[in-house]
Amino acid sequence: MSYKIHSVCRGCGYGAPNLPEGLKAPGTNEKLVSVLNLGVMPLANAFRKPNEPQPGHYPVQLLVCPRCNLGQLSATVDPGVLYANYPYVTSPSEMMRQHFDALWKQLNFYRKIETVVEIGSNDGLCLHHFLRLGAQHVMGIDPAENLVKIAHKRGVNTICSLFNMESAAMAARALPPIDLVLARHVFCHADDWREFIKSVEVLCSKETVVCIEVPYAEDTIANCEWDTVYSEHLSYLTLRSIRYLLEGSGVWLQGVLKFSIHGGAICLILRRRDSEVQRDGAVDELIQKEKCALEDWKEFAARSGEMRADLFMTVTTLRSQAKRICGYGASAKSTVWINSCHFSRKEIEFICDATPQKVYTTCPGTDIPIVQEGEHYTQCIDYVILWAWNFALEIMERERKLGHTGFKWIIPVPEVKILDGTEVLNATTLKP
Ligand code: TMP
Repeated sequence: MSYKIHSVCRGCGYGAPNLPEGLKAPGTNEKLVSVLNLGVMPLANAFRKPNEPQPGHYPVQLLVCPRCNLGQLSATVDPGVLYANYPYVTSPSEMMRQHFDALWKQLNFYRKIETVVEIGSNDGLCLHHFLRLGAQHVMGIDPAENLVKIAHKRGVNTICSLFNMESAAMAARALPPIDLVLARHVFCHADDWREFIKSVEVLCSKETVVCIEVPYAEDTIANCEWDTVYSEHLSYLTLRSIRYLLEGSGVWLQGVLKFSIHGGAICLILRRRDSEVQRDGAVDELIQKEKCALEDWKEFAARSGEMRADLFMTVTTLRSQAKRICGYGASAKSTVWINSCHFSRKEIEFICDATPQKVYTTCPGTDIPIVQEGEHYTQCIDYVILWAWNFALEIMERERKLGHTGFKWIIPVPEVKILDGTEVLNATTLKP
C-alpha cells in the first residue's frame, strides 16, 4: 500500500495512535474528528498522457483536531508516488509576480536579504525573481527531477531531493550564512512537521529569517475552498497548531503576514530562540481571534456539499439544453470538482491551460482532455468554468481585453456564479 493512515495530530499530538483497541494505553481514546469525506480520489495533480500509467486512487478524508483545530487528511500518500513526476509549476502570472515583489519587500524589513534557500523551490520561478530583485546567492531544494531541470536552465542552483536534514546540511555547506529560508506552499505537504522544523534549524544562523507561506484555514473555511482538499495537502493550518508545534523547538513565531494569493495565504515568520529581535503580543492576539473551531469546520463541510450539488445541477441543466461547456485552468482544484461531481467528457468537453506540461494530458480519473489556452474561445463554447478561480480577476480581465466574450463564465468558489465577462471587473464583482 502506498499510503499510511494518519491519526495523531501533527500540530499538538492529540489523538491515540492507530492501534487495535487491546494495544492502546488506558485513557488514550482521543480521536481526530472526521468532518469531510470525499471518498476515493485520483491524485489531483496526476495529469498524465493517455498512454502513461495513472498512479491510482487514494482516500481523501478531512479530520480536524478538537484541541488545536488543525485540519489534516486521514491518509498520507507516499511522497515518492506524489512527487517523482510532478506537473505542477508555479503559475507565471502577473498576480504571482506582484506577490513575489510584495514578499521580497516585506521580508527585507525583517533583515537585509542576500542569501536565500527555498524549500520546495519547484521550477525556480520565485528564486529567479529574487535574483533580479537583489538576492546574491540562492539555492533551491526540490524532489521533482523534471522541475529541477527547468530551474537549472533558469540559472537557479537546485538540490534534487526531498527536504530533510541531509539536503538542508548540503545547502548550508554550499552557501554563506543564510539570511532567508523560504518555504512556499510546501509545509502543508509535509507529514512529519517536527522533522521539517529540525531540518529548517540546520539552515539557520542566529538572525536568519524563516518564512513559511501556507494557505490559512481561516480563509479556507470563510471562502469554502473545499476543492483545495486533496492528497498533497496533508494539513490545513491554524496558528493554534503552530503554537503547540513550536513548543520545545529551537524557533519561535515572530510574526504573521497575510496575503490574498491562492485564495488567502499567511506567512509564518520564525526566528531562532537566541535571536536578538524583540517580542510583542501581536501573534497571541491573532491566535485568540482565530475562527477555525470544530463547528466552523463542520459548517464548511456542509456548505461544500451544497456547492457540489449547485455546480452539478448547473452543468446538467445546461447540458440538457445542449449548451457546450469547458473548463479553464487544469488546476488540482479542477480534478477535485470533476471527480466529486462525476463529470466526464460528456459534460466538460475539455479544459484549457497555459502549462505546457499539462497540454495533451487528461484530467486525472477522467477522459477529459487538457488543451491549449485559447481553445475555449476558438471552439465556440457557451460556458467556461473557471477552475483557476484564484486568478479570476487577472484571467477574466485579460480575456475581456482580448475580446473573448462570446461565452459566459461559471465561477465555482466561494459560490457558483455566472458572469458574462463583458463588464470591467473588480474584487467585489466576484463576491457572493
Ligand atoms: P493553481 O491555482 O494550482 O496554480 O492552478 C492554476 C492553473 O491554471 C495552472 O494549471 C495554470 C493555469 N493558468 C492558466 O492556464 N492561465 C493563466 O493565466 C493562469 C494564471 C493560470
